[in-house]
Amino acid sequence: MTNKFGIYIHIPFCTTICPYCNFNVYPQKIAQYDVLANCLLSELEKNLTYFGNKELASIHFGGGTPSLLPIKYMEKILTMILKNSIASHDCEITIEINPYEYEMQDVDSLYDLGFNRFSIGIQSFDDVKLKYLGRDSSRRSNILFAEKISNSKIKNINFDLIFGIQDETLDTWERDIKFVSNFDINHVSTYFLTIEESTPFWNKKLRGEIIDFSEDLYIKMVESTINILRKNKIYRYEISNFCRESFESKHNMTYWSNGSYLGIGPGAYSSYVDIENKIYQRWTNPRSPKAYFNFLNENSVSEDKVLNSFDTREYVKDSFMMGLRLTNGINIKQLKKIREFSLNQGTLDELNDEDLILSNLSNIKLTQKGFNIADYIIFKLIESINFKVA
Ligand SMILES: C[S@@+](CC[C@H](N)C(=O)[O-])C[C@H]1O[C@@H](n2cnc3c(N)ncnc32)[C@H](O)[C@@H]1O
Ligand code: SF4
Repeated sequence: MTNKFGIYIHIPFCTTICPYCNFNVYPQKIAQYDVLANCLLSELEKNLTYFGNKELASIHFGGGTPSLLPIKYMEKILTMILKNSIASHDCEITIEINPYEYEMQDVDSLYDLGFNRFSIGIQSFDDVKLKYLGRDSSRRSNILFAEKISNSKIKNINFDLIFGIQDETLDTWERDIKFVSNFDINHVSTYFLTIEESTPFWNKKLRGEIIDFSEDLYIKMVESTINILRKNKIYRYEISNFCRESFESKHNMTYWSNGSYLGIGPGAYSSYVDIENKIYQRWTNPRSPKAYFNFLNENSVSEDKVLNSFDTREYVKDSFMMGLRLTNGINIKQLKKIREFSLNQGTLDELNDEDLILSNLSNIKLTQKGFNIADYIIFKLIESINFKVA
């Protein structure tokens, strides 16, 4: 709800496509980085003015594998952004990186360009897990890569880790989480492996080679994660995200607090929020690189981009959906300033009594127990909203 915004840049190519990944990704062999970069620059040129009244809090190069984008294009993109927006003095500039030496650009060059945060897809320090996940890394190469990055000039580092793979034990996961303390990092994302449709892992599931992960073991793994990382002064602040004090990802906080962001690149989402003028708009770019290139060449982004406008009721519901993922929950008082509503007292009492939420007049948040069934609780709370007639 602040007058800030973030920019997300989607680079949709990877050298190999992991068998569990259902993100908007394509093999690098079809990549045309020059065409992509021109499209990204033209999108920025057209759309940045739309956010002109807001301060830029974060820039996030995501993917896919954005570190594969040639550095000259990164430079052009960053220059265009910084020339045409008001960046905050502590603007977070992140790039997602796979821990593959052959994909890595020179770290000092990235630092010189202005990057100040790395998000590394470590996934695990266990050879069996890495092989199962189809990663092109090993325990040893991950350790070497993590050491190199944590000794670099960039001090704000995140590791992505995956848990919940077939036959994984509590012990294997705890070893992964404990190993994190060997590195000087301040953010960890722990993702529970989801078996996504139209991936090779989905076919494995259909063949009965992957069975549903035990809920009890999932809960034990999450509890262990919280306890082990806490000893290392890294605390949970979102369902899957942990950080040292004040190292929350600024970019992701914009999503979770239902703020404004400009997404550029194939399939990227954008959201524009202007509470004072009651404007809440969202739009999405065409998903495939080809459709995206055509869309831009037809010059149909900008004023005539496909805008979906929502009313303040949708804004409140979306704020519940995103904000309840945060351990601090949502500020009910602030949201009521945007649109008056009440929550069904019976639902609140029931969830409070079962120790699934903590609520008072100004705040609702999920408890640790509640986070284990977060989707269900968030759905129940949204269903219980009664809006006053505007
Ligand atoms: C989309 S990737 C982009 C970054 C980079 N290419 C990488 O693989 O590390 C971001 C993160 O999403 C997570 N991810 C992708 N597919 C997933 C799945 N099916 N279940 C859980 N996490 C997943 C991985 O941990 C990955 O690091
Ligand atoms: S997990 Fe990362 S590297 Fe693997 S296919 Fe998805 S985006 Fe690419």
